[in-house]
Amino acid sequence: MEIKTFGVVGAGQMGNGIAQVAAMSGLNVIMNDIKEEFVQRGLANITKLLGKSVEKGKMDAAEKDAVIARIRTSVSLKDMADADFVVEAATENETLKFNIFKELDDVCKPHVILSSNTSSIPIGRIAAQTRRPDKVIGMHFMNPVPVMRLVEVIRGLATSEETFKTTWDLSVKFGKTPAEANDFPGFIANRILLPMINEAVYCLYHHVGTPEAIDTVMKLGMNHPMGPLALADLIGLDTCLAIMETLYNGFKDSKYRPCPLLRKYVEAGWLGRKTGRGFYVYE
Ligand code: CAA
Repeated sequence: MEIKTFGVVGAGQMGNGIAQVAAMSGLNVIMNDIKEEFVQRGLANITKLLGKSVEKGKMDAAEKDAVIARIRTSVSLKDMADADFVVEAATENETLKFNIFKELDDVCKPHVILSSNTSSIPIGRIAAQTRRPDKVIGMHFMNPVPVMRLVEVIRGLATSEETFKTTWDLSVKFGKTPAEANDFPGFIANRILLPMINEAVYCLYHHVGTPEAIDTVMKLGMNHPMGPLALADLIGLDTCLAIMETLYNGFKDSKYRPCPLLRKYVEAGWLGRKTGRGFYVYE
């Protein structure tokens, strides 16, 4: 079944990035969120990034306009009836995602694959909300989506071979390199990345170093493009905490205990770049 129209649920930092790469690959995109304000903000971000590409001479203005014209905005999940493949990129909250998948299962055509950009919720649990568990899969993009080359493709217990191959091929069409993972808490990317970030927060909590010192050590000492605390601010501290909770609850192993300081920041609403303050302050 040819995929012509690609649905994205969630127009936030991950959702609008996914919508952008899908539209750039030539697909028609339906970008959905719960409020008009959210989809317009997502579209404005895409327009800004494509505008920068035009300024840098990486894209011509007509191509930019064509990419934007391929993105249709939506504030009703019912619009996903027109999609040939859907990726859900809503907030990392299990109940919310379960409700979205139940509704998508009712709305979407029976053959349509329902994928999730979840960073750590088990694919099997999401699939169990639907009547098409063989067509449910993890399609995990990295932030910032237009730049990062990886898509982690996660097989649930019931995911069919056909679903896996379609999702893999779509990732390649988007210009990404897919990597295959099985359905364990945090999959591969976040099982390795988040304990490192959490440990960096523990270093701050134990006054081993300032945020600048911790990030400088990892940037210059290990050649990471960003320090772990700056990266946590980019990902969102609420998302980081949610992933640590998933690892901790999933494995029941104290090595995944979220740092109390991370929780404190989240409770204070210091969520990183998106709220203007996390481990650093953003103007
Ligand atoms: N959106 C789109 N493009 C962006 C961007 C953004 N938010 N931030 C930077 N870019 C682009 C820039 O425009 C620039 O493009 P050109 O090459 O066309 O000029 C390019 O990326 C490089 O940017 P900069 O020169 O400004 O800065 P940089 O070299 O430091 O790169 C970075 C920025 C790509 C973010 C880099 O610091 C990096 O790779 N950081 C690590 C990111 C990372 O680890 N992501 C994974 C997070 S984990 C995750 O996403 C999974 C999860 O579930 C939590």
